[in-house]
Amino acid sequence: MKSKFVMTNNAKNFITLTNNLLNRGKNVSGMALVYGEPGVGKSHTALWWVANNDNAIHVQVTQTMTPRWLLSEIVKELGEYPAARTSDLFNQIVKSLILDPKILMIDEVDYLIDKKGFIEVLRDIYDRTKTPIIMIGMGVANKKLEQYKHFKDRLLAFLRFKPFELKEIDLFIKELSEVNFSPEAIDFLYKMKVGFRQIVNIIDRAEIIAHANDLTEINLNIVTKLFKEGD
Ligand SMILES: Nc1ncnc2c1ncn2[C@@H]1O[C@H](COP(=O)(O)OP(=O)(O)OP(=O)(O)O)[C@@H](O)[C@H]1O
Ligand SMILES: [Mg+2]
Repeated sequence: MKSKFVMTNNAKNFITLTNNLLNRGKNVSGMALVYGEPGVGKSHTALWWVANNDNAIHVQVTQTMTPRWLLSEIVKELGEYPAARTSDLFNQIVKSLILDPKILMIDEVDYLIDKKGFIEVLRDIYDRTKTPIIMIGMGVANKKLEQYKHFKDRLLAFLRFKPFELKEIDLFIKELSEVNFSPEAIDFLYKMKVGFRQIVNIIDRAEIIAHANDLTEINLNIVTKLFKEGD
């Protein structure tokens, strides 16, 4: 499989959103929520941005994380050595972001929405630094945030990563796969509403099958089997 970033509609919308946050007017909110089903490319797009621009950092929240741990991950991503005390960590972040503004991309926010203290930490960082914060979460993140009225007011935009259109699936496969897929095979993947992660797995296995059996094209039959195996 070829290794490249595919410029999907979702990715284009992410770029627009990020630029809007960076270029917003003085009193316009600078926080946004990016959400969508698993495997549609949310994290990959954020990481691609961070790899290509030095104006952003990406932090992945985990299930067992505490607010202090999150702060210390942010400090590390900002290139500093984390202090021991929570208040010092917070001040480290504020100082660093005021001196050298960076967009905070906080991934898997679903883990932190339900837990005490996190949303407040992000809100405090935002209020002190006005640095753009992009929170990335699952399909339900949007609904879950309803409970934090003060926080929601600070959100400039909500961007949903949508499932792929037929044309897009065709584009990914053409750009990433070393073996061709028949139009029926592509249509099948579209109808099954595959995410990017599933497509990548299917391409991976399709290439192995094509190589082993000397095939020039993956047809509907093969793709149906690959889809079912991966389910
Ligand atoms: N624009 C892209 N170009 C190339 N590959 C991509 C792109 N977007 C996603 N991928 C591939 O699809 C995989 C799944 O995408 P990603 O992990 O970003 O999904 P996600 O929306 O963050 O899912 P989750 O909600 O489960 O975290 C990536 O590991 C990567 O291999
Ligand atoms: Mg992700």
